[in-house]
Amino acid sequence: MCGIVATIGLGPAIPVLLDGLRRLEYRGYDSAGLAVVDGGQLTLHRQVGRVRELARQVPGTLPGHVGIAHTRWATHGKVTQANAHPHVDADRRIAVVHNGIIENMGVLKARLQASGVVFRSETDSEILVHLISRYYAGEDGVPAGDPLAAVRAALRVVRGTWGIAVLFADEPDMIIAARNGSPLVVGLGDGQTYLASDPHALIAYTRRVVFLEDGDVARIDARGVQTFQLDGGLVDSVIETMDEVWGDEDSGDYPHLMLKEIYEQPEALERCLSGRIVPAGGTAKLGGLDMAPKDLAKLSRVGLLGCGTAFHACQVGVQLIEQLARVPAKAEIASEFRHRNPLVDPDALFFALSQSGETADTLGAVREIQVKGGTVMGIVNVVGSSIARSCGRGVYIHSGPEMAVASTKAFSNMISALAVFTLMLARQRTLSAYDGRLYVEQLLAVPDLVRRYLENPGPIDTLVEWVKDAGLVLFLGRGLSAPVAAEGALKLMEVAYVPCIAYPSGEMKHGPIALLETGSPVIVIAPRDELRDKTLSNLQECKARGARVAIIHTEGDDIAQHADLSIAVPETSPFFSPLLTVLPLQLLAYRTGLALGCDIDRPRNLAKSVTVE
Ligand code: F6R
Repeated sequence: MCGIVATIGLGPAIPVLLDGLRRLEYRGYDSAGLAVVDGGQLTLHRQVGRVRELARQVPGTLPGHVGIAHTRWATHGKVTQANAHPHVDADRRIAVVHNGIIENMGVLKARLQASGVVFRSETDSEILVHLISRYYAGEDGVPAGDPLAAVRAALRVVRGTWGIAVLFADEPDMIIAARNGSPLVVGLGDGQTYLASDPHALIAYTRRVVFLEDGDVARIDARGVQTFQLDGGLVDSVIETMDEVWGDEDSGDYPHLMLKEIYEQPEALERCLSGRIVPAGGTAKLGGLDMAPKDLAKLSRVGLLGCGTAFHACQVGVQLIEQLARVPAKAEIASEFRHRNPLVDPDALFFALSQSGETADTLGAVREIQVKGGTVMGIVNVVGSSIARSCGRGVYIHSGPEMAVASTKAFSNMISALAVFTLMLARQRTLSAYDGRLYVEQLLAVPDLVRRYLENPGPIDTLVEWVKDAGLVLFLGRGLSAPVAAEGALKLMEVAYVPCIAYPSGEMKHGPIALLETGSPVIVIAPRDELRDKTLSNLQECKARGARVAIIHTEGDDIAQHADLSIAVPETSPFFSPLLTVLPLQLLAYRTGLALGCDIDRPRNLAKSVTVE
């Protein structure tokens, strides 16, 4: 969602703020803004749209060595300049940027308005600046002119989540920051200190960082950071070094990040598998789990949690785990799980799946499991992200940077990490060394099969013509192909704004079939597996209603003759078929978005990491 960047120190603030915003733009791109202080004056610039629009407006020579900046994904209030951050108090002496949601906005706003405060935006965030301003002026016995005390007092009366940075025109030697549910990291430089909602914004400047924890309030100056608890004393700041640091967002030789990331899948899969497979024993090891064989052997069940594409990877994972390791497994949408007061079996193992490692609902689910005494580990891409840190143990999927908003290579690598875990677990239980070696051989062959498919992806453009103006596209698949169908529908909706639904094939006749008319496009995912023939019957049912059917199938399978259009993928074990069958669907979404002139890497209304509930 929104991104925050701030800096204070010897160097000019503007270049750091604009550069940081550009790196954070994938988190939200509705509007951008910044504020700097120089000579006791606070200067504010805000603009609807991309960071480049803001950069055009801000004079490169604007003086000031301290500033805060923000890129917004709208939650409360439309996409307007007035709603862009930073928000300032009535006298323009204090500026605030905020990620998160103030839940008791209604009552606080009414109270402030009753006492004469005029609101200039529709945002919940503006409340913060007015509260801070009142306490800074000494309201309610808070020491007047004390920035730290004013921010603490304001945060005591708000309810919700926040990552904030606050700038005071009268205090140009400090920035106050605070975190509760919205990540913030302080970067330590040489005579310059930085703050960001994502370490990615800091990579050009420093690798020495301090992650703020929930409940922290920090005083940041050119020398570093002092961290306090909201209601307590000084906290020890633990300085960490960022090891794995991703470079800049760059589509290289590709026209879009999404296409680049689709084509990076073979190497990404190889990275995920590398060093984790033990071919001779037909097994695997995942050091990050830190689980002895006897711990694996006594697992009662496995729970997989995630949102969006990560949830679809969970749905693939449960089938692998149940079918191969014969351990009960369940996939659940994190936003549902966290709020339904779930039963947490102490002998179960939960995994939280997340590319960004920052998804608020997935993080909330992690906390719910931890509160209930359960064991939860991360299956995460971004090293050092909030979910990875909260879980403490887990598996990095090593996709490399995924910057396009639509997730592609992370989906594949989540499945491949789960395939490795399944192998480990299955070898503790039912799987023989012989079958384990067969599984390993097939799994290790997948990256090359993906490479081979991507070199010659088949008649995707014909399918683009079918779907680009369709009122509805139906995706069908059974078993391991049902989540692939859901993923295909999600991709086409988010990248090309084409209305889609996905159903397990057998469920279609219980309702969605009513939508089919002559010419309705239906995309059936039917690799060669034990459910193929049943899916073929459903395909025939669609054709009987006049639908146009495209099939994604295994190379050489004569099932192709039953469809109006066929796209073949290389043969693999049925267990790994999602890693192949998803590829044409990713390309379909990409090329349809292209044909419709959509903003492929930055689809409307979306953001790369969803850090609000
Ligand atoms: C879809 C997509 C989203 C994410 C979801 C979870 O292409 O990108 O559905 O999968 O927001 O994000 P992470 O994996 O970062 O938790």
